[in-house]
Amino acid sequence: MDQNCKIGIFDSGFGGLTIFKHIKELLPEYDYVYLGDSARTPYGHRSFEAVLKFTMEGVDFLFEQGCRLIIVACNTASARALRSIQQQWLTTKYQDYPFLRVLGVIRPTVESLGGLGQSKTALLWATMGTVKSDSFLLEASHHAPDIHLIQLACPLLVPLIEAGELSGDGVAYFVKKYWQESVSRERGELIDVLLLACTHYPLLLPEIRKVVPDRVKIVTQGEIVAGSLKDYLQRHPEMEKRLSRANRVQYYTTDRCDHFDHLAKIFMSDNDIISELAIIDRFAHN
Ligand code: DGL
Repeated sequence: MDQNCKIGIFDSGFGGLTIFKHIKELLPEYDYVYLGDSARTPYGHRSFEAVLKFTMEGVDFLFEQGCRLIIVACNTASARALRSIQQQWLTTKYQDYPFLRVLGVIRPTVESLGGLGQSKTALLWATMGTVKSDSFLLEASHHAPDIHLIQLACPLLVPLIEAGELSGDGVAYFVKKYWQESVSRERGELIDVLLLACTHYPLLLPEIRKVVPDRVKIVTQGEIVAGSLKDYLQRHPEMEKRLSRANRVQYYTTDRCDHFDHLAKIFMSDNDIISELAIIDRFAHN
């Protein structure tokens, strides 16, 4: 049985860093490998087949780097690809390695909604791919059946954020537009919670807070996913015992390193030093 295993974090690009930041804060002792598929980001508008293929390639790469537990930090990839990866691909391609695990972000997020109390209405903002998959609705029917969950795709927010537009008139316009669309579908006063189910959206929190009434609780995923990973490791000592603890983080990007470095400062913080960063350019670009 192998020891010295790392935890892999996979994302379509930079967004997963908003989740990873919290994982690293809560569980700093472990070794991590982060792969951001920046060359093929965003996944939000891509087909089910493309997202599945890209996610499988990313997960394969992370297994090769010695990861045994992988968190798919991207909502779109979790929504589109995780079920096929867990239920078919892992059990065939990696049937001789039954201890490998790939976990996503949707289930822990939905489970946290279950704690909000009965008869709440939660509005979910996410990419087109996540919304179309209905994965959050499906998970909510099992793990938060008392929550009335409604969804809205906000396809223009990711490109704005990746262009560095985190405040100002342009962002304010689109946040207002999406809020008004949400409210016109569901009476605004009935919305109790706004769930930001996209890795990028927490970066717009100050702008979103300006538009969304104070009584609406805004939920982001970083702390939820980090807490759920901690809980998973406590419940699975057989996995936890295999993890190496040298406090090391290796970052890989499928596109230019300087671009990754630049955006990583926005998605994490200036204090998060990206000391080990390499490009991996083996994947076809479509
Ligand atoms: N990481 C994606 C998500 O959380 C957003 C960016 C993308 O579309 O690839 O859904």
